[in-house]
Amino acid sequence: MTASGFRDHPNWAYLLQEVRRVYRNTSSGGSKIIREHQRTVGKALSAVHTVNPSLDFSEPTTLPVCAHLDRALDNGKLGPMASFARAVERIRDVLAWRYGYESVPPKLADRYAYCELAGPRGPMITEEIIIGLVLFAPRCTYPQHSHRGITESYVAISGAFSENDLGVYAPGSIIFNRAAEVHRITTGQTEPCLLLYAWTGTAATLRDDRLTFD
Ligand SMILES: [Fe+2]
Repeated sequence: MTASGFRDHPNWAYLLQEVRRVYRNTSSGGSKIIREHQRTVGKALSAVHTVNPSLDFSEPTTLPVCAHLDRALDNGKLGPMASFARAVERIRDVLAWRYGYESVPPKLADRYAYCELAGPRGPMITEEIIIGLVLFAPRCTYPQHSHRGITESYVAISGAFSENDLGVYAPGSIIFNRAAEVHRITTGQTEPCLLLYAWTGTAATLRDDRLTFD
């Protein structure tokens, strides 16, 4: 699948279209900084669309939390992010779910994983941005961490979660973390949580995107 651009693979073309729509249409709630971040993400995604990179897949991998993906997508399809959840369903079989740590904290091993959709490591190859999904099981605490040189946003697709105990976010919400800002996530008691995320930064920081736990 490396000979042609991703736009020759309709499920991926539609997925990128959905991500662009999410970042264009999600309300910034009047925050100029968040609106500006949404524009930055939109410009990067528009560049990906224009360049039309080939798809470069890692070996598909699943982790224990993937047993919650069906439920997360089913719930997502009932809410405002239904169109996005359906687009994820179409490409789910080729995703490579990872922990992102050399050694995963034991409490997270069966409650968390992420996969990338676009970025320096693919599947849609770009140095402009990293786009991915995070999946949490119910009753998960994702420990306090920050991203050096990387600005991050999460868009809630399915389930409810809290960040830094400051509020509870439902599907359609966008949460913004400035570079190096420390954040911690907790998820609801009974349902899994699926988030879309975008990381922006320089090509060098996106290539070397290590988390820092505090
Ligand atoms: Fe984060």
